[in-house]
Amino acid sequence: MKLEVVILAAGRGTRMKSRLPKVLHKMAGKPLLGHVVDTALALEPHAIHVLIGHGSEEVEQALAGYALNWVIQEQQLGTGHAVLQALPALAKDSTVLVLYGDVPLTELSTLQKLVDQARQSPALLTAIVAEPGGYGRILRDEQGDLVGVVEDRDASAQQRRICEINSGVLAAPASDFLHYLPLIGNDNQQGEYYLPDLISLAVADGRRVASSQAGSEIEIQGVNDRVQLNLVEREYQRRVARALMREGVSIADINRFDVRGSLECGADVCIDVNVVFEGEVSLGDGVTIGPNCVLSDVAVASGATIHAMSHVQEAVIGANCSVGPFARIRAGTVLAEGAKIGNFVETKKANIGNGSKVSHLSYIGDCEMGAGVNVGAGTITCNYDGVNKHKTEIGDGVFVGSNSTLVAPLVIGDDGFVGAGSTITREVGSKELAVSRSKQRNIQGWQRPGRAGSKD
Ligand code: UD1
Ligand code: CA
Repeated sequence: MKLEVVILAAGRGTRMKSRLPKVLHKMAGKPLLGHVVDTALALEPHAIHVLIGHGSEEVEQALAGYALNWVIQEQQLGTGHAVLQALPALAKDSTVLVLYGDVPLTELSTLQKLVDQARQSPALLTAIVAEPGGYGRILRDEQGDLVGVVEDRDASAQQRRICEINSGVLAAPASDFLHYLPLIGNDNQQGEYYLPDLISLAVADGRRVASSQAGSEIEIQGVNDRVQLNLVEREYQRRVARALMREGVSIADINRFDVRGSLECGADVCIDVNVVFEGEVSLGDGVTIGPNCVLSDVAVASGATIHAMSHVQEAVIGANCSVGPFARIRAGTVLAEGAKIGNFVETKKANIGNGSKVSHLSYIGDCEMGAGVNVGAGTITCNYDGVNKHKTEIGDGVFVGSNSTLVAPLVIGDDGFVGAGSTITREVGSKELAVSRSKQRNIQGWQRPGRAGSKD
């Protein structure tokens, strides 16, 4: 049977105290709504319909990469009213699943089960919680059958003590939505059209309404303020960390570990505290990441070590390389096997050959470097003339003395040698020594300047 997913995301999210629509606030670097859409997509639905209202243009733009049917709900008159707006777009012979743009951690298996239960009649996802305040409470008859939902604000003191709550997630045949939604009224404390009223209407018709319970409270946790946003963020990160640890990755502190994208790890990877992974990151066997590093769209091959406080972005780090501490590896950096980038070194668009070393205080940009090169401390590739970028080509086995300035475009041939403190502006041939510093002069009997006005 066809599945139609309807995601409610029209609310303002007042308690976020933000100019950004609530569903665009991020969990793990991705909008909350993006997580819900991804979960929905995994159910392979016929279509996904998203109800938007507040900040609708911004929401559409942020999720432009997804194929979604946007439905505008001009006025937020309640969850029942919201789904009603989507009805004309739903295939009549489908099962409809209603999700919420601000509930990002529902498990796929939980939803799959609910959808399976809803082939013939409505099915509601409920949960048992310790503090049910604020939620709609589940009403059951003596047989334990679901008979309705009463909103917190409409509930009696006795009903408020019920700990089984409505998650909001509901699935039913499209025909039930078509039949019951128009019958829902707004005669309640909030003057809203309540979607859960569909249940009491169906029960009054003698229909049996199924329910299933979420595995844990976090699955149905909505985000209404930034405290709850942090709650789902940390739970998400713990899930990712636990899954990696079960696959053989060591993580120093599950509470100081953040993946904002995807992270693939080989065997015996060690990740120290406060490491942030963004975009697509892969770490080969035996890779070690020191504390306080940021890796963003990076592939690190086996045996490499990224030492503390390094920032690595859009780069390829070869096997057994050593990077940092305090290295800044920028876009387009490719380190071949066994290369070493040391402290306070910045690289950009640089190919560094096998076993080459740039150990201290350097800038290497727009550079092709061969194998076995040694770049001394404080070497700068002058790649920019104020208008254009130029390339520095350094052959195999080159030695660049400390504090050298390599003015691009420039070629240094294999086994070339640059004396320390040189400013190199012309090609250095293979095996040549280039020294361009001024000759040293020693002046004997030289007097230091005295202090102005002093007697001697
Ligand atoms: C709703 C349920 C409640 C349940 C709770 C779970 C109703 C009436 N109540 O209450 O039983 O326990 O969720 O969290 O459904 N929205 C729209 N358009 C609207 C109204 C709401 O898109 O006109 C969206 C909101 O953006 C929000 C979601 O639907 O993301 C829930 O709406 P809200 O009014 O916050 O419902 P709750 O009071 O949380
Ligand atoms: Ca409400």
